Formats: sequence, structure tokens, C-alpha cells
Amino acid sequence: MKVLLILAAIVAACRSESLSMPVDPDLFPVSFIGDGPNAGSTVCIDAALNHCQSSFNAYLNITGVADWSSPGILSNALDTYFLSGVPGLLQVCNARTLFYQCLGSSYSSCINRLYFIEKGYSQQASYGYVQIMKELEFTCGGGLMQAVQSWGCILNVRQNFKSTFSTCVSNFNNTITQNPNALCQAAQDLTNCFRFPYIVTCGGAVGWWACERVRIAFELGTQCQSLQCNINSRSAKDEEEKELPENSEKKPVHPMDIHALPIPESLFEEYQRMANKIPISDEEMKLAGGHQ
Ligand SMILES: *[C@@H]1O[C@H](CO)[C@@H](O)[C@H](O)[C@H]1NC(C)=O
Ligand SMILES: *[C@@H]1O[C@H](CO)[C@@H](O)[C@H](O)[C@H]1NC(C)=O
Repeated sequence: MKVLLILAAIVAACRSESLSMPVDPDLFPVSFIGDGPNAGSTVCIDAALNHCQSSFNAYLNITGVADWSSPGILSNALDTYFLSGVPGLLQVCNARTLFYQCLGSSYSSCINRLYFIEKGYSQQASYGYVQIMKELEFTCGGGLMQAVQSWGCILNVRQNFKSTFSTCVSNFNNTITQNPNALCQAAQDLTNCFRFPYIVTCGGAVGWWACERVRIAFELGTQCQSLQCNINSRSAKDEEEKELPENSEKKPVHPMDIHALPIPESLFEEYQRMANKIPISDEEMKLAGGHQ
């Protein structure tokens, strides 16, 4: 049953891609949610959270209700910034830094799915909001360098592989619906599924970025601690063009770590054909810092 919680998160995440899936709130066991709002040393104060979210929205000129009650609106507003390129990305990240400082020690108590569920918000809204903030945690933190370096390419993949990403989620959904015990294998498949198009189009380091982003945003690591995102190139012959981000290190490959596997050749060819069809404008090349 715990898998349904992850599904809810993914469904909420994919809302902008109009992927909807009904979920039964009664089926969500609280035990999977992890640390509750009181698990840390501080509790989340409503007034503080409201204030910090208002400041975040004001900084980005986001009007209307764009928060945990309607994460889709927040997500769309942030997309406008993301799609405008690296300057937009950095503006969102500035707002996110202020938001993080604003919440201070209560950050992890507030950016917590259980907190909103207990307030009576829907599973989808609670998961969707926290997922947006977790995603920013990575994109504006450990993943910022990769994001800035390859933003144009990342945006291209995001736009052009939409149906691939929908299929990734459907496959994940089907697998865990049929076999809930296969959650962690399905989670690995899901992260692989998301990272392959990025590897083919943007290179191995961006593949790491895409995998880590999915892992952190969906909090897959909570249940599947062995889930790791390694830097893998598409095949052995690309080894030399690997470029490790500063904050990662090359670890010995664990036998269970399927991230170590290169992309299957047939899939690689298919994705390469798709990647080759992506028109890259001069502006996007500039955004991407002249990638490939
Ligand atoms: C928000 O709007 C104000 C006034 O129009 C503008 O000066 C500011 O640059 C905008 N902020 C962002 C992040 O675009
Ligand atoms: C999820 O899986 C179930 C069972 O296989 C299926 O009925 C449902 O349509 C799937 N939803 C999505 C979005 O793939």
C-alpha cells in the first residue's frame, strides 16, 4: 500500500502534463510518510509558513493562491520562470533561498507531506506542494551547477520527451499496482526511465542530475535507501567524456545498483533519433552554454 503514496506524489508531479490518476485517500498508510511534523526539534507554525510563502510568491510576482492548496498553480507559475532560461531559474532559486532562510529551523517540519495531510489538504495537493519544494531543494542546491550548465538542453528534453516521461510513470504505476513488493525495483526503473533521455541528449552528468532530481523530489530514497544515482554515460565508449559534478564521487558499483547499467542499445538508438529531431535554436545553445 505504501506504493500508493509514491503514486500520489508522482501524479501530483505530473499534473502539469495532464496525467491524472484517481487515488483513494483511505489507502494511504501514515507509516510510509516518514517523519511527521513533530519529528524534528521544531514544529511548523502556520503563520510563519504563510508569511514565508507569501514572500516567496511576492518575490516572483506570483499572484492568486499558489501554495499547498493549489500546487498546480504554483508549478505553472514557476514553469514560466524556468522556461525563460537560466536567469528565470536563478530568480526562482533566489526566492527559494529566501524561503528557506525565512522558515529557518522549521523548514523540514513545514515542508513535510504529513503536515498538510493532517491539516486536511488532499493527498495530491500535499504531495504536489512538497514535491515542488523538494525539487527546488535539489535544483537550486546540489543540482544547480548542472542545471545552469545544461539548462537549454534540459528544457529541450523536458519538452520533447513528454510522452516518454508519461510512459515512465505509467510503467511505474503498473508495476507497483501489480506487485507492491517491487517498489524499489520500480523506483530504480523510474529513475532510469527519466534519466536515459537526458543522458542521450545532454550527456551522463545531466543524466545523473535527472535521476537525482526524481529521487529527491519524490522522496524515493525514504523507502529505498539503496537507490543511488550514479554518473553513467550511455555506453562504455563514452567513459572519457564523463564529467563528475563537484559534490559527487565515484563509488564502487554495488551489484544491486542497476544505475550502473548503460542504456540498452535499442533504446539508445531510439532516443538518439528523438534527440536528433529536437531543433536547437541559437538562444537555447547559448542557454545551454554551447553543449554538444
Ligand atoms: C516583479 O515585478 C516588479 C515590478 O513590475 C519588477 O520590478 C520585478 O523585477 C519583478 N520580479 C521578478 C522576479 O521578475
Ligand atoms: C495505474 O495502474 C492501474 C492498474 O494497472 C491502471 O488501472 C491505471 O489506469 C494506471 N494509471 C496510470 C496513470 O497509468
